[in-house]
Amino acid sequence: MKKLIQMTINDTDCEIAVRPNQTLADVLRQELGLTGTKKGCEVGECGTCTVILNGKPVNSCLVLAVQADGCSILTIEGMQTDEGLHPIQEAFIDKGAIQCGFCTSGMILSAKSLLDQNPHPDDKEVRTAISGNLCRCTGYQKIVEAIKGVNE
Ligand code: FES
Ligand code: FES
Repeated sequence: MKKLIQMTINDTDCEIAVRPNQTLADVLRQELGLTGTKKGCEVGECGTCTVILNGKPVNSCLVLAVQADGCSILTIEGMQTDEGLHPIQEAFIDKGAIQCGFCTSGMILSAKSLLDQNPHPDDKEVRTAISGNLCRCTGYQKIVEAIKGVNE
């Protein structure tokens, strides 16, 4: 039996009926069309499904949608504003920190969470912040440079 939940997603209030076993990742992608959140491993290993939930990055494949009832969620679709791309997105483009792009949504949301707390992180702090986000393409160096350069 479905349960009605309420969330604020990218500053927009949303009410939706979900199954008790539906993950937040599946509700975002399949019910709400927010396919910028990717699914890789679906067991909490790759970080590609990262969203920010009540200010903290989470693997949305490990969160049941019913657990997000009453929560505020930021997905990659909410990073862009009327003025254009978010500076973190611009930095990833400028530094060539994107190849296939599959990890990028999760990387950017982990980066946002870090930079909100620590606007000028060092190399180690960046690497720690993205340690739950796997990238099979870039070798990480350009991602680290992009994140460090956002507020320089
Ligand atoms: S899909 Fe969620 S951590 Fe891999
Ligand atoms: S750019 Fe391909 S997985 Fe990171």
